[in-house]
Amino acid sequence: MDGIALAAADLRQRFEGEGTGHDWWHIYRVWQMAIRLADAEGADRVIVEWAALLHDLDDWKFAGGDELAGARAARAFLLERGAEAALAEAVADIVQRVSFKGAGVPDNMPTLEGQVVQDADRLDALGAVGIARVFAYGGHVGSPLHDPTEAPRLHTSFADYKQKRGSSIAHFYEKLLLLRDRMHTATARQIAAERHVFMETYLERFFQEWEGRA
Ligand code: NI
Repeated sequence: MDGIALAAADLRQRFEGEGTGHDWWHIYRVWQMAIRLADAEGADRVIVEWAALLHDLDDWKFAGGDELAGARAARAFLLERGAEAALAEAVADIVQRVSFKGAGVPDNMPTLEGQVVQDADRLDALGAVGIARVFAYGGHVGSPLHDPTEAPRLHTSFADYKQKRGSSIAHFYEKLLLLRDRMHTATARQIAAERHVFMETYLERFFQEWEGRA
């Protein structure tokens, strides 16, 4: 089948300039981090690289809420390029399970390869890049930066999470600051811990500036 580099070039063309934080460069960062985690954790590089590249192919947030659209698109993408059915299935299974579906909704990611890709995707929501992405996405859906009167909500169902539309700052409490404790692999936990502290420092400063104290 076609190599990873060719497929990556195809995806870059398709997703470049996308403005919601799920553009080609998100895919690129997840791909690179997934390689790092796969090597550190001893996961299968082929499955991991393909799943990382295809994990947002048809994100439910942009596919009219169809949770299986991404898995179908990933499977088709691989089969069209002559991949073996077993690889296409393994990748489609990971893509279907990879999205964060709310604070109270437990993860269901049984394979090490899937855990590596989910960790890599979540790490991209943390740290300096994560902060940039949360405000980019907030701008895309028309959310305010911050609303001091609003309390963050911890969504206990996927349906509830999909309907939310709070401020970008609330999103830190509804998702980003919860991700450190949802990492599967030890390598990702270590990276997440550092990015978590960075975000806490950022938030402290944000609230100080909000009140004119810094
Ligand atoms: Ni993603």
